[in-house]
Amino acid sequence: MIEKNEIKFPNNFLWGAAIAAHQTEGDNNNNWSVWEKSNANRLAANSEQTFSKLSPVWKEIKEDATNPSNYISGKACDHYNRYSEDFSLAKKLHIQAIRTSIEWSRIEREKGQFNYKELDHYKSVFADLASKNIKPIVTLWHWTFPLWIEEKGGWLNRKTVSYFCRFVEKVVSYFPEIDFWVTLNEAEIFARESYLLGRWPPGKKNPFRYFMIVNTLILAHNKAFKVIKKINQNATVGFSQNITFFEANKKRLLNKLVAKILSFFANEYFLNRTAHYTDYIGLNYYFHTTINLFKEQKIVCVKSDMGWDLCEYGIFDVLVNIGRYKKPIYITENGLADKNDTYREAFIKDTLFYIKKAMDKGVEVKGYIYWSLIDNFEWDKGFWPRFGLIEIDYKNNLERKIRKSAIAFSEIIANNGFTTTPG
Ligand code: BGC
Repeated sequence: MIEKNEIKFPNNFLWGAAIAAHQTEGDNNNNWSVWEKSNANRLAANSEQTFSKLSPVWKEIKEDATNPSNYISGKACDHYNRYSEDFSLAKKLHIQAIRTSIEWSRIEREKGQFNYKELDHYKSVFADLASKNIKPIVTLWHWTFPLWIEEKGGWLNRKTVSYFCRFVEKVVSYFPEIDFWVTLNEAEIFARESYLLGRWPPGKKNPFRYFMIVNTLILAHNKAFKVIKKINQNATVGFSQNITFFEANKKRLLNKLVAKILSFFANEYFLNRTAHYTDYIGLNYYFHTTINLFKEQKIVCVKSDMGWDLCEYGIFDVLVNIGRYKKPIYITENGLADKNDTYREAFIKDTLFYIKKAMDKGVEVKGYIYWSLIDNFEWDKGFWPRFGLIEIDYKNNLERKIRKSAIAFSEIIANNGFTTTPG
C-alpha cells in the first residue's frame, strides 16, 4: 500500500511570489537596457551553441532564442502599467506576499535628484498591494544601475556604497508602510556573472575584481542595514543570497573537499560577513552542482528548460547548513523555467517536502516565495525562459494566463500544505 503523507506548514508560514523591476516593468533606462542593445545580436548568434545541448526543449525555443529581439527588455511585461491586474491574479491564487523591487534608475536618474513622480508610482503599487491584503517585500537593488552609477564604475567604485545608502535612506523614509526590506539580491551571483565570467554588464572579466565586488557588496549591505534600522527600528531587514548545493559524487573524500571549498567561496563567505547585520537570511535556491572529479557515473536529475538540474532534495542540505547562523530563513526565490508546465507542480511540492523536512529538524523557515509570479525577462537569456506561475503571451498583447501549476500552488496555500504519495 502506498502511504499518504500530510505535509503541513505552521499557521503563520508566509506564501508568496516574486518579481523584479527590470525584468517586468518595461521601458527602463539603465545599464542593462543599454547593454542589451549592444549585445542582442551576439547573444542570439551564440544561443544555438549553448542551448541546443543544454535545453531539453531547444527545438521549441529555437525561434525565440535565435532572434535578437528576444534579448531586448523593451516593454517587458508592461508591469509598470499593469501591476494592479497582476496583483489581482496573485490574489486569486491566494498569494499572501509579493517580493518586488524598486528601480534605482527611475528614482535617481540624475545623481542626487530624486524623482517624486516615480516615488509616487511605487506608492500606488504598494497601496494596490495593501488594498488586496498582500504583503510587499521590497528589494532595493536587483542588479541594475542608473547610467551615472555605471559610468562611475558601479560597485568597483567604493563611493557607490554611499550613493546606494543615500538612495536607501530616501526610499525607506518615503515608504514607512514597508516593513520588510531586501537590501541586495544575490551579491555573489552578480559579482560572478559580471566580473568572474564576464557574461553580464559591464563584462569585465577579472578574478581580482570579483573579490573586490563581493567585499564592496558586503559593506553595502551592512551599511544599508544600519541606515534602514535607524529610520525604522521595527523593519525586518536582510538580503537574498543564491546558495548552490555542491554535492560530492559518491560521497568521495576528494569530491567532498572540493565541494566544501566551493561552498565556502560561493555561499558562506558573504553569509559569514553579513550575519551580524541581518534579521533573516533570504535563500534563493536554484542550483545543484555535482562535484565529480573521477568522472564516475553521476547523479542525474530532471533538467529545466534552461538545462539546470532540478534536484529538489538539495534544499534540505542547504537549509540545514545555513541553519547554523541561527537566523530565520525565508525562501525568497525558488522556481524553474518550464514553458510547458510539465514539472512545475511536482517541483514545488517536492521542494516543499524537503523544506518541511528541514523545519522538522529544527531549521526556522518562515516563508516560501516562488520565482516568479509572471513570465519575464530572464537577463542575458531574454524572454524565452518561462518561470511564471502566470504565462505572458508576448505575441498577443501581453495577455496573462494562469498556468495549471499555479492553481495547484494556490491550493497548497489555501490548505497550508498538501498530501503527498512518496514514490
Ligand atoms: C534572480 C532572478 C532570476 C532568477 C532565475 C535569480 O538568480 O534573482 O532575477 O530571474 O534567479 O534565473
